[in-house]
Amino acid sequence: MSIPRKKFIAGNFKMNTTSSEVASYLEAFRVATEKVNDVDIVLIPPFTSLAKASEILGGAQKIRLGAQNMSSEAKGAYTGEISASMLRDLFVRYVLVGHSERRRLFGETDEMVRRKLVTALKSELRPILCIGETLEERQSNQEKTVLESQLRAAIEGLSPEEISEIVIAYEPVWAIGTGLTATPEQAQQAHLFIRDYLGKLSGTSVANRSRILYGGSVTPDTAVELLSQPDIDGALVGGASLDPRAFAKIVAAAIPQE
Ligand code: PGA
Repeated sequence: MSIPRKKFIAGNFKMNTTSSEVASYLEAFRVATEKVNDVDIVLIPPFTSLAKASEILGGAQKIRLGAQNMSSEAKGAYTGEISASMLRDLFVRYVLVGHSERRRLFGETDEMVRRKLVTALKSELRPILCIGETLEERQSNQEKTVLESQLRAAIEGLSPEEISEIVIAYEPVWAIGTGLTATPEQAQQAHLFIRDYLGKLSGTSVANRSRILYGGSVTPDTAVELLSQPDIDGALVGGASLDPRAFAKIVAAAIPQE
């Protein structure tokens, strides 16, 4: 029998929400999620709002913080970069690694993604590793090759213990911010493929325990069906996470059904 995986819902605010705006967001979001247990909730505001969010949340276990990016270097002359220890200092627990916007708009290569992932693991930050194919890659039936190569480049050679710290987010690039969600069947297929491949790289027990999130235009309306797929363990939400009430509805869709 496989162990049930606790659902994981993360909100990636991208370049939205100032430090003063995060306070009112949290007030509304905390009220709207008051009754939720049994779901891991992670908010990923911009760097400049993390300190404020951390101060407001205090040691609360229920809502954790994540960062959108991080340097692969520990410290030094890297103007404009933010290190893992700076994030840890603000009680940040998670970090997005390899988001498609970083890969596409800021030239992050598989190798850079790998370095960041390793640094995060060494620094006790849990990476949320994003992988996903573009529209052209899907149209030319290359999605599996792309998922395999992104995943292999990021985690091959890591120990099973390290791999089990990683949350994976399947984010088809064509579905991000476009309003085009993968159908639940398309997403389930990709998730199952990722889990099988993860099994090849790290063993089935790690693969069965690993959480694989879906990301790409998730809304309160699409969340229920997506989250009821057997291999979809949560969601990485962009646009719809900016409204605390809409995001709370997505969180509610992840509450385990009796
Ligand atoms: P979206 O973004 O929900 O706005 O499509 C998802 C993401 O980029 O993580």
